[in-house]
Amino acid sequence: MSEPHHGRGIERRKAQMDIFEILESEVRTYCRTWDTVFERASGSTLYSEDGRDYLDFFSGAGALNYGHNNPDLLRPLVEYLLSGAIVHSLDMKTVAKRRFLETFHELILRPRNYDYKVMFPGPTGTNSVEAALKLARKVTGRTHIVSFTNAFHGMTLGSLSVTGNSMKREGAGVPLTNTSSMPYDGFLDGEAADFLWLRRALQDSGSGVDKPAAVIVETVQGEGGLRAARASWLRGLAELCHQHGILLIVDDVQAGCGRTGTFFSFEDAGITPDIVCLSKSISGFGLPLSLTIFKPELDIWKPGEHNGTFRGHNPAFVTGTAALEHYWQDRRLESKVAGLASQLHEGLSQIAARTEGARVRGRGLLAGIYYPDHEVAGKISVEAFARGLLVETSGPDGEVIKTMPALTIEPGDLLKGLDILADAAESVTGGKVSVKSIA
Ligand SMILES: Cc1ncc(COP(=O)(O)O)c(C=O)c1O
Repeated sequence: MSEPHHGRGIERRKAQMDIFEILESEVRTYCRTWDTVFERASGSTLYSEDGRDYLDFFSGAGALNYGHNNPDLLRPLVEYLLSGAIVHSLDMKTVAKRRFLETFHELILRPRNYDYKVMFPGPTGTNSVEAALKLARKVTGRTHIVSFTNAFHGMTLGSLSVTGNSMKREGAGVPLTNTSSMPYDGFLDGEAADFLWLRRALQDSGSGVDKPAAVIVETVQGEGGLRAARASWLRGLAELCHQHGILLIVDDVQAGCGRTGTFFSFEDAGITPDIVCLSKSISGFGLPLSLTIFKPELDIWKPGEHNGTFRGHNPAFVTGTAALEHYWQDRRLESKVAGLASQLHEGLSQIAARTEGARVRGRGLLAGIYYPDHEVAGKISVEAFARGLLVETSGPDGEVIKTMPALTIEPGDLLKGLDILADAAESVTGGKVSVKSIA
């Protein structure tokens, strides 16, 4: 018996599509831009099953600061797993968690004089943000949160309510309330004094802005277009919060863990946020792990008031401990990142110089180029992929080409990637540039 016509149609469609298109939701994104099947990865290179290799200027959106399958993290992970040690434990005490907490305290908090308690809020960045918002509201008894234009804090409802992007916000399906958005550093192109509106809004009881529980800020807007706040702006914000008894939350999910050159992205600004969100590269290996850290006097949680099944993922503790021990015992990684960052910014400046109005944005190894023609960055990303480079876009219209190489990338690979990027940019915008000469 022959199939009904529509059945044959479906079968034909299936034959032309792969399982990702057949079964995986339309919500998928990166696999549309980078339409290949990745099989292996090592350091800053990914290999697809059809035998091509790709240089990685994406680093798992910041989850792979130490590269793919870093052997110094892989070895202890494999040994741990083969030893029969605990994998899943909710928030029970484990040997792996003890080592992680001790190491985080000894190598990160203590040398920087940060007195923070550590909470494991769930495995992802948005879990950390949700916990931060809940805690700020609980501590202050206020509901309102101030966030910034083009902020990105995650996809759950609380995080979306402090996120700028209208497409992402619409996905919430419910009103996003109890927040207001203020201009981020540079949003008004210097046309107004820093915090003009926020300062007035807080001082004037007629402003219509409820006194906030907290202000949440990224020091570099990873998803929202790579604007980097000046240190003086961050200090001004911290001061304003302090004056008004408002908690300052720094969302260091993307900019933290060394991405901007120091472990926390706010160290150079000399501020001490009340609450800090960390995730992405805190496990060092691409395993899900997230922390919300806060000043001890804020620790008024009742036991279990915020919980979750996947809070303390022991394999992630193992790789996270190894990453801290390997890279944060001394200043070597920081000085390496400083060198790589100046090479990256130099290369990006040369590429940007070929296009009228294009500008370098970002800080450290979280940097890119803003193009006034909002179509350009997306096209460059496509051309870069065709030439073997993974590089994504950022900003509300994807108007910024965003580079995020591993902190461990070889300088030669950084140059190679910059050259591919220059070539891709040239194919889109014209204007030849070679960055090979950068020392
Ligand atoms: C600054 C910032 N906060 C929060 C998140 C959300 O993290 P996740 O995607 O792990 O939920 C991201 C993700 O890109 C981010 O960049």
